[in-house]
Amino acid sequence: MHILGINAYHGNASAALVSDGRLVAAVEEERFNRVKYAAGFPAAAIRYCLDAGGITLADVDHISIPRNPWARLGTKLWYAMRMPRFARERAKVLARFAGIAEALSEAFEIDPKQIRAPLHRVEHHQAHLASAFFVSPFEQAAVLSADGLGDFASTMWAAGQGNRMHVAGSIAFPHSLGMYYTGVTQYLGFRKFGDEYKVMGLAAYGQPAYLDEFRRIVRTNGGIGFRLGLEYFTHHRTGPEMTWRDAGKTPELGPMCSGEMARRLGPARDSSAPVEQKHRDAAASLQARLEEVLFGMLRGLHARTGQKSLCLAGGVAFNCVANGKIFDQTPFEQIFVQPAAGDAGLAIGAAYFVYHQILGRPRQFVMEHSYWGPQYSREKVRAAVDSSRLRDAGMEIAELPEEELIAVAAREIAAGKILGWFQGRAEWGPRALGNRSIVADPRRADMKDTLNARIKHREMFRPFAPSVLAEATPEYFEKSFPSPFMTQAYAVRPEKREAIPAPTHVDGTGRLQTVTREANPRYWKLIREFGNLTGVPLVLNTSFNDNEPIVCRPEEAIDCFLRTKMDALALGDILVRKPSGATPEVRR
Ligand SMILES: [Fe+2]
Repeated sequence: MHILGINAYHGNASAALVSDGRLVAAVEEERFNRVKYAAGFPAAAIRYCLDAGGITLADVDHISIPRNPWARLGTKLWYAMRMPRFARERAKVLARFAGIAEALSEAFEIDPKQIRAPLHRVEHHQAHLASAFFVSPFEQAAVLSADGLGDFASTMWAAGQGNRMHVAGSIAFPHSLGMYYTGVTQYLGFRKFGDEYKVMGLAAYGQPAYLDEFRRIVRTNGGIGFRLGLEYFTHHRTGPEMTWRDAGKTPELGPMCSGEMARRLGPARDSSAPVEQKHRDAAASLQARLEEVLFGMLRGLHARTGQKSLCLAGGVAFNCVANGKIFDQTPFEQIFVQPAAGDAGLAIGAAYFVYHQILGRPRQFVMEHSYWGPQYSREKVRAAVDSSRLRDAGMEIAELPEEELIAVAAREIAAGKILGWFQGRAEWGPRALGNRSIVADPRRADMKDTLNARIKHREMFRPFAPSVLAEATPEYFEKSFPSPFMTQAYAVRPEKREAIPAPTHVDGTGRLQTVTREANPRYWKLIREFGNLTGVPLVLNTSFNDNEPIVCRPEEAIDCFLRTKMDALALGDILVRKPSGATPEVRR
């Protein structure tokens, strides 16, 4: 039985194919159309998923989308009367959803009658919950979804048991932890879609000096819920302005904060103005209040469900700083966050919701790795190298047996070189986890500056992350619960901070990826070899890109390699090196 999940006409458009309960493929549209967080209709992602499963659209048994126009209809209508412009925008989006079968038949040039699969509409947050629980290793768990807004809710929690979830509560618009974080992110001068994680990085440089004020911005009363101090916001009056129907454009958000934020906290920071201590302190206060509210909700959820295990989904689940503290701040003993915890993950959630919750099929799948995206054959990689400018640019190119490839690559990293590492299937979700990664020496204090100057060109306050051999986690970190998808930040042991300064954040934490031999044998061997050479079984890992979606095809990897100042590139078995002593060509 083939189920196609589609997150369309929403940020992070994506598709996933689940066949007989097992995930076959999952990918974001942005990897194909090269538009970050692309919305619109994910035709290329769907095409890839069908190809990976060796099927056509006519073979699909169920199609599922994470949007249910009937959910919270009363609330929607009430706000539609108060905000007619917003209502008109939503109506246009819903009209597109109504035409999803037509969009499919048009994209795949088949007669709509050939699409025999029924279309299921799964409420946004139920799809988020399903995306976490049904692929988790837990037979039973508490499940929480928290984000900006979906089907007019921001938060939902449930108890998961076997192949069923029972929703226990939810929080409706306009109260939203995601909008709280986004609103303050905008106030701090970071206005692009997806900038929240920058502010999370900035928070470590400040003190929560404004925490009392932030307790008025998000209010709690001891239960699982919370409410926003609406005087600080505008979205409940104007509707959240989100422009994300065009697949060729990164979504945009309208302003969310009212003048009250500036009156209480001082003027909003202009995007081009320098970041000052008051901004760092506001970011720290924002993060501290998010953590207080989230941990309060989780303690309430634990008390209500009595579960030891927790699954998290929604954009808030990307807050790795908060996630890393869950073990200390709540009674939960195990957590699971799948790598595409945000809206891309809705595609798998919608598909698994149908398989388990609607069809009642038993569970048989655990997401043990994130490699559900495209891969390219040896021949395709060779062809990409042959048709590139690599040889003309004087690169040394050699196809090597694995052992040699790993030995040379590890030596390069240990010598301070920056290595592009392109292997196997692309990662699902926003983190590069050893198949589309840039890898560097974590022992060099200047490596962060070097990477930023030569390749990544991002804000200096943003940390880089470590990939550590799973078995060495307790030696380097104060917690060792697996973090295979970089969804938790743990404190680096104080005695190890000097050993790995480059991926250790200013607050002494690292957003680690724990790497097992089973999940990614080749990456594990690379890190082990680096450990053999240096005594440090850990590398710095950042995504293979330069202010663009993570590279997907070998051509994009080669282009990024040539465009930036990377030193070496492993493309499958092919190792490309700039000739020793040569000044790398830079084309920007
Ligand atoms: Fe969402």
